Amino acid sequence: MVTKMSLTKLITISILLFLSFSPTTSQTCKNMCGPVPVKYPFGTGSGCGDPRFQTRVTCNNQHLTFITHTGCYPITDINYSNQIIFVTDPSMSTCVCTQPSKGFSLDWDAPFSFHDDTVFALLNCDVSSSPIFKSDRNNHSVSPVCDTGSGSRVCERLNNCQAVSRLGVLVSTCCVYTPVDLGPSFEMDLQKLSCGSYSGLYGFKEHPDNPESWKYGVAIKYKFNFNNEYPPLCANCEKSNGVCGYDGPYNSFVCNCRSGINTTTDCSFEATWNGSSRFLRNSDEGLWMCALALLVTWMMV
Ligand SMILES: *[C@@H]1O[C@H](CO)[C@@H](O)[C@H](O)[C@H]1NC(C)=O
Ligand SMILES: *[C@@H]1O[C@H](CO)[C@@H](O)[C@H](O)[C@H]1NC(C)=O
Ligand SMILES: *[C@@H]1O[C@H](CO)[C@@H](O)[C@H](O)[C@H]1NC(C)=O
Ligand SMILES: *[C@@H]1O[C@H](CO)[C@@H](O)[C@H](O)[C@H]1NC(C)=O
Repeated sequence: MVTKMSLTKLITISILLFLSFSPTTSQTCKNMCGPVPVKYPFGTGSGCGDPRFQTRVTCNNQHLTFITHTGCYPITDINYSNQIIFVTDPSMSTCVCTQPSKGFSLDWDAPFSFHDDTVFALLNCDVSSSPIFKSDRNNHSVSPVCDTGSGSRVCERLNNCQAVSRLGVLVSTCCVYTPVDLGPSFEMDLQKLSCGSYSGLYGFKEHPDNPESWKYGVAIKYKFNFNNEYPPLCANCEKSNGVCGYDGPYNSFVCNCRSGINTTTDCSFEATWNGSSRFLRNSDEGLWMCALALLVTWMMV
């Protein structure tokens, strides 16, 4: 009789400990990297997200980073509903700070392209040698082969920025390059173009006259796959608080649940646990200690 009672208590305590400590601690794939939410197709580590994005977007020390052959760029935000990644390039020039840069390029074989709202202003170009500037027959004047519409307004406004004017950059050596002109390989090699630096910006349409309110960085579009379909399995997994991942020799889909358990479907089984232990899970440490104290007392009776 006595042993049966202790056994019941032991089992109860084991279950309670399991329920309160197992979640959150053992989940391999996280849904946050620093302040940035991480969802499919991105992942916080090996086996998380979609394997095709694994080497392009990584989470290192709580910093989500975008990687191309030209460098590593901090990701400041991701708009999942519009499928846009916002990255900054520490080497680019802004209204506040100008600096030399080598450029910015995407990998031609990666599932990314520049967002249409991204504007690239190439600064400090050598108009005599740069292939984007053409001299006329008499070598008297140069006519940029750059966007002369709203593009030249970007240059004018940028030129009014203190940092840019301090550089002594002439408006005529600025060229606005729209992403489509970067060619199929999305390559912006400033050395080849004979330009010293560049500014990447978005938000020009909203505030055309105020370069200080432009957002400096690069907006990048991504696609899930050829049909740009969100995999239904993954959608279900995320709905049940799981994180999508892959495993095995064929990179098969796995749903990484909060408890650390992987399933091939979703984590709805955890909702049952959650219901029964919501009190413990959601309470702060004090409440949990209270419960523990009660249990210990109960054991000793
Ligand atoms: C669950 O899947 C993740 C991602 O593939 C993997 O890193 C982890 O080891 C798996 N966990 C278990 C318990 O199999
Ligand atoms: C994503 O972008 C759209 C359109 O710009 C905006 O309406 C929406 O609020 C954005 N979503 C997030 C989560 O920022
Ligand atoms: C035009 O100027 C460039 C660079 O200054 C020079 O190399 C080239 O020979 C000139 N062309 C003519 C036709 O004068
Ligand atoms: C457990 O329930 C709480 C409150 O309803 C909810 O916020 C949380 O996401 C749930 N956790 C899991 C693992 O289902």
